[in-house]
Amino acid sequence: MGRRVVGIDRRPPVDPVRPGVRYVTNDLLHLDITRELQGASTVVHLAALPGVRPSWEHFDQYVQSNIGATRRLLEACAEAGVRRLVIASSSSVYGDRNAGPMREDQAPAPVSPYAVTKLAAEQLALAYAHRPETALTTIALRFFTVYGPGQRPDMLISRIIDAALRGAEIQIYGDGSQRRDFIFVHDVVRAIVAAMDAPGGNYICNVGTGSDISVSETIALLAKLIGREPITRMECARPGDVDLTRADSIRAAELLDFRASVPFHEGLLPQIEAVRATLT
Ligand code: UGA
Repeated sequence: MGRRVVGIDRRPPVDPVRPGVRYVTNDLLHLDITRELQGASTVVHLAALPGVRPSWEHFDQYVQSNIGATRRLLEACAEAGVRRLVIASSSSVYGDRNAGPMREDQAPAPVSPYAVTKLAAEQLALAYAHRPETALTTIALRFFTVYGPGQRPDMLISRIIDAALRGAEIQIYGDGSQRRDFIFVHDVVRAIVAAMDAPGGNYICNVGTGSDISVSETIALLAKLIGREPITRMECARPGDVDLTRADSIRAAELLDFRASVPFHEGLLPQIEAVRATLT
């Protein structure tokens, strides 16, 4: 598409690196971001400390990485005259509603420190876009639970696949009835690209599928696809975990012309292969 891309991450790039991308390995908390943004029209802000469950113990790090780093980036966007910011937010900001699809116009009610920091970051980005005389417009994308090759190893689907392939045990937090709207990573990338060029701006948009599946059903489906059952051990539910996430996808369709297209069982296959490749 003729874009010049700079990738900033505190971790070094993973092989294979993308040709034509300039990689900067540095922390948004220390980097001279304005210098890196000279001439940039668009910023996609995906950097964060993720994970609901560990956020009770490491709150300072979540505040620094998710709010402090976002503020530094926003100052730099303002200084460098960036026109569009796409920021990754999270379905966790809705909290524990357990009733119908989550809609962007519902009041957020986060139930974990992680979700509080994601909500703050999202709102800060919208606040910067509302400053008088700014060129910046923001679109905050609330990602539902993202899966696919490269998924974090502490997340449910990675853990089930790993446990099934190695004949090891997976801990289930609660009774396995909690439900998630899982969205494949390629669909998420399509939503981000749509938001980079979407007209208007200064709004929040869900990025989910509109369907949900329980933890127990996910284990059964993966066992069928892999041909092996993981060993499961029930543990108590973890604080901050919600019973149900399900996106209302109407705004994404209307404003971004985005609809998730990858069926769950199809998206799981490349993730199974990617985990298998790490074990051989
Ligand atoms: C995920 C990401 O970790 C968040 O960064 C993201 O913001 C969030 O999705 C989101 O949707 O907004 P989570 O739903 O907790 O959070 O994703 P998983 O780690 O895949 O967990 C899904 C469910 O499986 C949770 O109920 C969790 O308690 C359960 N689980 C997870 C287990 O029972 N055992 C495990 O070993 C891991």
